[in-house]
Amino acid sequence: MPGTAEEDLRTVLVTGATDGLGYETARLLAAADHDVIVHGRTAGQVDDAMERLVKDGIDPLRLHSAVADFACFNEVATMAHLVSKAHPRLDVLVNNAAIAGAEHRELTEDGYERTWQINYLSPYLLTTMLERRLAATPRSRVVNVSSSHHVWASLEPAALKEMHRYSPHSAYSRSKLALTMFTKGLTMYGAARSTAISVHPGILDTALLPTYSEAGRPAVEGARVVARLCMRQKVFNGAYYNEKSEPAHAAAVVENLTAVKQLWNVSANLTGMG
Ligand SMILES: NC(=O)c1ccc[n+]([C@@H]2O[C@H](COP(=O)([O-])OP(=O)(O)OC[C@H]3O[C@@H](n4cnc5c(N)ncnc54)[C@H](OP(=O)(O)O)[C@@H]3O)[C@@H](O)[C@H]2O)c1
Repeated sequence: MPGTAEEDLRTVLVTGATDGLGYETARLLAAADHDVIVHGRTAGQVDDAMERLVKDGIDPLRLHSAVADFACFNEVATMAHLVSKAHPRLDVLVNNAAIAGAEHRELTEDGYERTWQINYLSPYLLTTMLERRLAATPRSRVVNVSSSHHVWASLEPAALKEMHRYSPHSAYSRSKLALTMFTKGLTMYGAARSTAISVHPGILDTALLPTYSEAGRPAVEGARVVARLCMRQKVFNGAYYNEKSEPAHAAAVVENLTAVKQLWNVSANLTGMG
């Protein structure tokens, strides 16, 4: 694929790789000869995605599987454990899996608002549990798939605790703001020698499109943005990138290091990592 001269990575974990942007990102990276760990919510979905990837011309030897429902911390922790065991190095972690805000506020078995757990707390847990692997791999990187909608959200302490005034859109935007702040937090508290960036991949024609618009670009166009940021040797650590793969302005609170630290500490407690 274009830009491969810059590449030097070997193993990439793409969460939510069974559909949409994640599937296309996994496909592009595997086609460029990287080992790709294809994550999905169930084993059946991962098998099906891997079959489709092979039909799309991918060498099956490039593909590895990882399964976890992000609505369940136990499953995420087990997956992190299995990935660590099976893969001594992890060059890139793409935190892509997400849902649009559920129509009504509902809690997971772990007791958290569903969108918050799937889109933010589980990526936080997975990333921190994979920290050793990321730290052991020179020039490793975390790429968090965020959204331009993060700028509309608020993360007041009260909102973090209860989130009573629920709306699907605010739940989604809030989770993406947290993921963008987490990216900044990783530059301070994350794996040594690792970089972290977040990206808005553009408005894409996927299952999540209705959250954004009536029409979107093909998922593969967003995947090119994400894959490029996975492979580019130099990125600005902690930066937020737009759909042109250029550094862009994130919400002001992302630059507020006190707020970033508070969110980090709260997240560590909520996920049992504190
Ligand atoms: N589409 C857009 O216009 C747009 C714009 C900006 C940002 N984004 C971001 O792009 C990323 C990819 O979204 P997409 O547009 O490609 O949507 P998508 O086609 O719905 O893909 C989402 C992926 O996440 C997985 N996922 C959802 N819930 C999960 C759970 N509980 N456990 C594990 N995996 C789960 C889905 O698997 P299942 O099929 O099993 O649910 C699917 O593989 C998201 O982070 C989204 O916020 C999208």
